[in-house]
Amino acid sequence: MKKRIAVLTGAGVSAESGLGTYRDNGGLWDSYDPMEVASIEGWYRDRRKVLDFYNMQRRKLSEVRPNEAHRLIAELEKDYIVDVITQNVDNLHERAGSTHVVHLHGEATKVRPENSFNEQDGYSEKNVFDIGYGEVHLGDKAPNGSQLRPHIVFFGEAVPKMEQAIELVSRADIVLIVGTSLQVYPAAGLYRYAGEGVPIWIIDPAEVQIHDPRVHHIRKVATEGMKEFIKAL
Ligand code: OAD
Repeated sequence: MKKRIAVLTGAGVSAESGLGTYRDNGGLWDSYDPMEVASIEGWYRDRRKVLDFYNMQRRKLSEVRPNEAHRLIAELEKDYIVDVITQNVDNLHERAGSTHVVHLHGEATKVRPENSFNEQDGYSEKNVFDIGYGEVHLGDKAPNGSQLRPHIVFFGEAVPKMEQAIELVSRADIVLIVGTSLQVYPAAGLYRYAGEGVPIWIIDPAEVQIHDPRVHHIRKVATEGMKEFIKAL
């Protein structure tokens, strides 16, 4: 029987592809206020600003490619059942070949009418659709007449995929965390659902704030760290 690996990733796994992280020096949140461009309050205050921010994110995404870390994560599927749970809104895991990716914070390449995917409709994805690397503008409406918005979990919104992510982490034989500052909840608390005695590997060049005896920290960038992790398996 194949063992199960749950891989939790953050912006650091895509850094070597050329996508900036959020909280490192010079990161995205140094130039933009997340409460303006990535919060639900920001959306209702100034939709145009939020749409422009994600138009830019999509454009950047069209210019980059998966890196060796994304590829090595995808290759783990040869020997393991791999569940990738990513906070990233990019599509680099999929483009590298990972077949099971849960996007906790949504996907930059998808949009939906602003009056859908809520508690009332049970977070149904039936109105969510792919726009690839295209743009969305104020006044672009869905067939139901509602303004289109990015399919992103804004700050201040629920994280509907959390339950599924908890289930996947709690079933894993090995947990691997790559490139996340673990500052944003509830995602940051996911590793706590790892079973007793399950090893938790962290790949991140920076110090991590987890004090758990199960943790092995590989203090390297994602591409180098992944090679070391695979050797240690
Ligand atoms: P952060 O920017 O908070 O953290 C990035 C992490 O990646 C840090 O721990 C860095 O040390 C590490 N890092 C940097 N370069 C790396 C490299 N080459 N290899 C490996 N690690 C590297 O990004 P996240 O933790 O992903 O949410 O941020 C979480 C959420 O906050 C995001 O999903 C986003 C943001 O606001 C939304 O927009 C909803």
